[in-house]
Amino acid sequence: MIKLLLRTRGPILTLREPHHSPKRREALGNLNVMFGGFVGVDTDSGKVIYVSQHAPEKSLVNGRCVDLDAGSRVIMPGFVDCHNHLLWAGSRAHEFYARCKGLTYHEIAEGGGGIAYTRKKTLDATEEELLETGRRHLRFLVDHGVTTVEAKSGYALTRDGELRTLRAFARLQSEFAGTIVPTYLGGHLIPPEYAERREEYIEEVVQALPGIRQEKLAEFCDVFVDPIALTREEGKKILLAAKENGFLLKLHADEFGDDGTSAMGVEIGATSVDHVAGIGAESIGKLANSPTVAVLLPATMFFTQTALDAPARDLIDAGAAVALATDLNPGSSLVFDPCFVMTLAGLRLGMACDEAISAHIKNAAFAVGRGYTKGSLAPGMDADIVILDTGDYRELGYYIGADNIDTVIARGRFLKRDGRLAESLAGEAVLG
Ligand code: NIG
Ligand code: FE
Repeated sequence: MIKLLLRTRGPILTLREPHHSPKRREALGNLNVMFGGFVGVDTDSGKVIYVSQHAPEKSLVNGRCVDLDAGSRVIMPGFVDCHNHLLWAGSRAHEFYARCKGLTYHEIAEGGGGIAYTRKKTLDATEEELLETGRRHLRFLVDHGVTTVEAKSGYALTRDGELRTLRAFARLQSEFAGTIVPTYLGGHLIPPEYAERREEYIEEVVQALPGIRQEKLAEFCDVFVDPIALTREEGKKILLAAKENGFLLKLHADEFGDDGTSAMGVEIGATSVDHVAGIGAESIGKLANSPTVAVLLPATMFFTQTALDAPARDLIDAGAAVALATDLNPGSSLVFDPCFVMTLAGLRLGMACDEAISAHIKNAAFAVGRGYTKGSLAPGMDADIVILDTGDYRELGYYIGADNIDTVIARGRFLKRDGRLAESLAGEAVLG
């Protein structure tokens, strides 16, 4: 039964496709907009059960249904942030301002800063401190319309420390109406104490995999292949072991230049290859029409002042499934706002607003293995819904810094309503 009925005279961005699949080529720019209509939610199951231009028959509507009239404002699915580091301790503001004076991200890392700095702080933090940071970050994300967020470990880089982070994700999920997709990123960096015995560290990461799966602490396994982190072969070793243990795979690939990492990702069946700013023609050819999603992270290039951008147009034209995400992390992208990512996708990647919306919602859902339940408004999908404070969805990337997200619903519960965040991350129930 419909217990929450949303209506608008304005656009409903359904992002529906005839078949469950990521949007490619021209389809990326087609949001399947319905002008004026109704979205019915069964708040017990947290599912959308009705989407139509016509009002539902009385027999479908619960007697105590809450009727939410959005006037002529936009109704759309919640954002999916499919590449996000969510939780760490300490601040790297000093590195940010050092970069403002000209130091590069890699120079800072080579000088002992970067991921290794955050690692020290994270290992020193208490569990409660980590959880508080996670809650704070989730509130920022929800405020910007995010209802599903991927969460990578990778700032502890010890077996126990990584487990502690992954358990914190599980705890946060138990408090949160939205969805957290946990990823084990033991291969984020070779810890300094292993510099002379890298293989031992890789082996340690591999050894941790079965326990993490048994405890169901992570769905994905990710690696950072880069001159400051892992080699392609080291990354591949971890991922092949992860695959055997039932993990889905992700890679930080070809971020600053093409070293064949995305091509390797496609070959081993990765769900996504992320960054790909330096990807070349041959690897683009491999991604084209493959099920592997290319996750573009323009905020990282902006935040690190890197004069390199993912070849979004070439990827889209070739038929690759392109997604967008924030890459929220303390060093290379302290960005919480999908709308700002859309701004950069327009200005730096040449993507149209409609394409950026599909990429940050529908294709992003596929990048976290949720394409069948999230990313569009259709009967049977999770009721993860955003109402804007405007009737023109193009304002999303154009009004930089505005709070244009009026209402956020996750699995049928209000996380934000009339511009105000709910008291708790569990959201407010819809009461008729
Ligand atoms: O996605 N690339 C690897 N990890 C992050 C950076 C992490 C950090 O600097 O703390 C990224 O860019
Ligand atoms: Fe990242």
